Amino acid sequence: MSRFTNVDLGPPIEVFALTRAFTEDSFAQKVNLGVGAYRTDQGKPWVLPVVRDVEKILAADETRNKEYLPVLGMELFSNAATSMLLGHDSPAVLEKRAFGVQCLSGTGALRVGAEFLARQLGHEIFYYSSPSWENHNLVFTNAGFKEARQYRYWCGKTRGLDIEGFLQDLRDAPQNSVIILHACAHNPTGCDPTQDQWKQIADVIEEKHLFPFFDSAYQGFASGDLEKDSWAVRYFISRGFELFCAQSFAKNFGLYNERVGNLTVVLNDLSCQVAVKSQFTLLVRGMYSNPPLHGASIVAYVLNDPKLFEQWKDHICTMSSRIIDMRKALRTALEKINTPGDWSHITTQIGMFSYTGLNEQQSNHMVKKHHIYMLKSGRISMCGVTPSNVEYVAQAINETLTNVA
Ligand SMILES: Cc1ncc(COP(=O)(O)O)c(C=O)c1O
Repeated sequence: MSRFTNVDLGPPIEVFALTRAFTEDSFAQKVNLGVGAYRTDQGKPWVLPVVRDVEKILAADETRNKEYLPVLGMELFSNAATSMLLGHDSPAVLEKRAFGVQCLSGTGALRVGAEFLARQLGHEIFYYSSPSWENHNLVFTNAGFKEARQYRYWCGKTRGLDIEGFLQDLRDAPQNSVIILHACAHNPTGCDPTQDQWKQIADVIEEKHLFPFFDSAYQGFASGDLEKDSWAVRYFISRGFELFCAQSFAKNFGLYNERVGNLTVVLNDLSCQVAVKSQFTLLVRGMYSNPPLHGASIVAYVLNDPKLFEQWKDHICTMSSRIIDMRKALRTALEKINTPGDWSHITTQIGMFSYTGLNEQQSNHMVKKHHIYMLKSGRISMCGVTPSNVEYVAQAINETLTNVA
């Protein structure tokens, strides 16, 4: 008899289970389109050269030590991250109304921000898009929110944004609901609102006194342009919103397992800042005490050195262009063999993921018959597509759509 006898078996986390199954699969042509991590044309993970260079510099620096960081992290990092998101000339930055909290990657930033909203401000309801990155629900629920609701986002019929449904769900949201918004490169659909649609979204959020919580996991990685990928956040700031934004450096710096993130907090009244920071300090102290140094040092080093910064911007262009090229190649390959359906969405979607439109049975068939690992929602990571497997992937999609309803 054990005190743990009655612990229920939790469901597996789909994306990690897929990677494991992929690793164990001995089929030569297997393809992993599950995990959201960059791959080279050869299908290999890529440590950015600028990251390698800075790691060598840091390793050789005998003055560096292993002392604790402050509870809210390294300011050199969090200030640089906040400025990268909002722009150096942002009114919130210039007026010092914005500050950053170094967190454990994007997920950690979401969690710290969500706990603050639930505990300090008593917010109870959060909204996330339907569909969304599957972890939003778990993170916000575990952070103390009482009710999870979804807003309409994706229209399967048009394979585009359901803007009317989205706006209506926001209009119907109770005051003070927290609205999670993907800053760019929506995961999993790859479909973002246009600038005009963002304006309409901001109007309703303002009118209904909702709280915007941006999730920025792909700045620079989506289009290769840091400003373009942060347009929505900057637009909300220009309208005077107070907001939170969780930033991840997993994808744009390739620092997945270093867990480098930042929670940008923008307040309208500077006089609140000391109290707000003190409560963040207690929250983090009680959660993990203080964050790790290594990954944040790399990012701070690069963002604060003009030459390395330019080198990094080249790297994000390399990554985003490879993905855009693979989108074109996949669409061409699908159309060349007359795959049933319209494939224009493959090239109109943006970012790491593509929502193929394959249903659950079809996605399972891709895994079982073709050894192409993808989520059951039909989401594929474009990073896993390479010049040498794109024809194989297209043939498999074609066979699946022809034979599986
Ligand atoms: C939309 C979105 N938010 C947040 C994250 C957080 O990632 P991480 O915690 O690795 O930074 C991801 C990663 O896939 C994501 O796609």
